[in-house]
Amino acid sequence: MSEPVTLSFARLTAAPKGVLIVLTDETLAFGAQTQKLLKGADAAITRAFDAERYKGKAWSTIDLLAPAGLDAPRLVVISVGKAGELKPADFLKLGGVAAGKIPSSAREATVVLDLPGAKIGPESAAEVALGIRLRTYTFDRYKTKKKDDTERGALAVTLLVSDEAGTKRAVTVADAVGDGVLFARDLVNEPANVLDPPEFARRAEEHLSSVGVEIEVLDDAALARAGMHALLGVGQGSIKESRVVIMRWNGGPAGEPPVAFIGKGVTFDTGGISIKPAAGMEDMKGDMGGAACVTGLLYALAARKAKVNAVGLIGLVENMPDGAAQRPGDIVTSLSGQTIEIINTDAEGRLVLSDVLWYAKEQFKPKFMIDLATLTGAILVALGSEYAGLFSNDDALSERLTKSGQETGERVWRMPLGPEYDKLVDSKFADMKNTGGRHAGSITAAQFLQRFVDKTPWAHLDIAGTAMSSPASDINKSWGSGWGVRLLNQLVKDHYEG
Ligand code: BES
Ligand code: MN
Ligand code: ZN
Repeated sequence: MSEPVTLSFARLTAAPKGVLIVLTDETLAFGAQTQKLLKGADAAITRAFDAERYKGKAWSTIDLLAPAGLDAPRLVVISVGKAGELKPADFLKLGGVAAGKIPSSAREATVVLDLPGAKIGPESAAEVALGIRLRTYTFDRYKTKKKDDTERGALAVTLLVSDEAGTKRAVTVADAVGDGVLFARDLVNEPANVLDPPEFARRAEEHLSSVGVEIEVLDDAALARAGMHALLGVGQGSIKESRVVIMRWNGGPAGEPPVAFIGKGVTFDTGGISIKPAAGMEDMKGDMGGAACVTGLLYALAARKAKVNAVGLIGLVENMPDGAAQRPGDIVTSLSGQTIEIINTDAEGRLVLSDVLWYAKEQFKPKFMIDLATLTGAILVALGSEYAGLFSNDDALSERLTKSGQETGERVWRMPLGPEYDKLVDSKFADMKNTGGRHAGSITAAQFLQRFVDKTPWAHLDIAGTAMSSPASDINKSWGSGWGVRLLNQLVKDHYEG
């Protein structure tokens, strides 16, 4: 919601302003330009290093207030460890760490992107800039009290870089991705009384049409005409209408089949008639994290004019338990024609996705489909918040996702699928049931989804552990993480752009 930091870029030799942040490596060496800047403060710095027993371990930092011999009100030294081995995710983290070292009282800061023996190029500098943006984002729309000094005021950060023009170009691209991530975070953080399915659709339309994404919104009547009764069954206990939003970005060759991204968008999940316990239920405003990611991703791809044909489809419903609500035992006919017996109305995400996956496959014949969903509590039991669960019918797609995960730090861990698990969702009365028993809950959920993808290369990401409420990190202090936007942007960039 709010981004209190303005970023600008200048040559390495420009004069620093405000809090001075410099880099070192594990040997405590400085780059040539940093050495010049710190001249005169050498003795103070050496004494501070000794006093703190600062050894330059990766990501350790040291702070000097009003250092003798320097104009800066504060000097921060950050060690990056081995300077020659830094990956893009490390530069992102560096931005986060640097931003975290700027006190909230500061109005100006300068980060000197200079290391001994390793040039920091434009792409890396852009990652640092992105890390600063992601770290300083806060969702404060509903805070009416005046900011006190624990909250950050306006801050101008200058990055001193070796290639100013190149960095500015790279930052345009990184900003598109950053805007996508922050848009996704806003959507996840927004409460469900504000962000219901029609409002989500409206925001997606407003935001994405501004960057050239074609949007189509299907309302209750259109969804019924199309035959999406699995999705509609979930929404029927809510006074809010359901929506499916289709977002198309055609940056690739005309006529080439698109890549497709599908998101679970349950704007609030009470569990329905199989109602959830009260404790922690407020977190279920984030049960649209998959849809938020897909929306943020399509924004990012369009804003950076990615050379790809991509389509995003999100299924938006509210799962509520009123007199019209779906019951356990009900049988619905999905868009695919397959029938589903509802055992537990809280296993609603798979019902929403079943219709949207089928629709995506039929309408777009995509190269692949990737769905993202806060689908099961069981994935938190298995993987915690460090990895999202990956389920797929395609080894090449899985490997690419795993690699993009390592590059971006949004990591995925592949889980098994197989006929033994598939059997567990067979139903006595219908073609399948919507739960698979007590064990292997994330896998049986994925098996259910696989019944709606046919032979299309497909991957399912269970993001219940990563989309929200994950522990604060160097690049995220917000409840909603915007997880997946950077991962999938990287996947497209590395493998699917012409
Ligand atoms: N939205 C939940 C899953 C969830 C749990 C997301 C915790 C984020 C944090 C999903 O709709 C759900 O309720 N799943 C059930 C499935 C069960 C009824 C088969 C679950 O995981 O308990
Ligand atoms: Mn549920
Ligand atoms: Zn849910």
